[in-house]
Amino acid sequence: MQHILSAKQFEKKDLEEILLKSKQMENACSLGQVKKTLDGKIIACLFFESSTRTRLSFESAALRLGAEVIGMEAGSASSSVKKGESLADTTRIVQNYADAIVVRHPKEGAAEEMANVAKVPIINAGDGGNQHPTQSLLDLYTIKKNLGRLDNLKVAFGFDPKHSRTIKSLAELLTLYENNEFTFVCPPALNPTPEFLGMLTEKKVKYSILNNLSNFGSYDVFYSNRLQEERLEDREEFEKYRKALVIMKSMAEGVKTIILDPLPRVDEIAPEVDDLANAKYFEQAKNGLYVRMALLESVLV
Ligand code: NCD
Repeated sequence: MQHILSAKQFEKKDLEEILLKSKQMENACSLGQVKKTLDGKIIACLFFESSTRTRLSFESAALRLGAEVIGMEAGSASSSVKKGESLADTTRIVQNYADAIVVRHPKEGAAEEMANVAKVPIINAGDGGNQHPTQSLLDLYTIKKNLGRLDNLKVAFGFDPKHSRTIKSLAELLTLYENNEFTFVCPPALNPTPEFLGMLTEKKVKYSILNNLSNFGSYDVFYSNRLQEERLEDREEFEKYRKALVIMKSMAEGVKTIILDPLPRVDEIAPEVDDLANAKYFEQAKNGLYVRMALLESVLV
């Protein structure tokens, strides 16, 4: 594995390896026995879009494995990109200073553009509304850890499948496993794109689209993600739907459904849900550390 650009690049056997390695990282962390396998390496984290979990868990993962971290937090404002430098040129420069580059950028295809000129591994930490492969790997890890399987699952995805890169990436990975069924819960204006639905049809994955939260307890996994405000063309549309689809304690309590959310949570899950045993989103964010340790080691060692 050189670059990590898209969920589309993985086969089932790659996923099994990553999940196993992530589990080993989790065990090593809990025993305080993490090996410094990245000693002497430098990881550049270039973030041109806001982030809390992804950037800090990548940085923490690198530091725990003995690497050092350089980077930029608000790249569009603070780097030479502001002066008009291309991403390709930025890559040609940064690769002299780092052994791998983690990048988040608002432009779809940005990580791929960098990978086309890079001599070091590029890791896509989110490119616009397109892909967020490392998030979907930690989502997969969390599902496996909680339910013991990745097949025969009824998975609901809310609430903005049109713009959510985390929904697109996770759904893509889950299509590799047998007999998973998807329901997209969203306002009609935010339905999955025809291209995405075409991919599901081609892979013979059963799906339905709903615009309400009825039968919440019938899903094995409810994968919630905020409306992607920054990617909505129409502000009025955002306001209209913001409070319409919210997971409440009354629907989530006492059901088998585990609730995941890549976070940040904005309005889509009521805070009263947080204490329920099936609310797994904070555990999910913690798992991001182990999965990113596994991924950094995989591309660098
Ligand atoms: C997600 C993202 O950036 O796409 N956040 C994350 O990485 N945990 C989800 C989001 O911003 O809605």
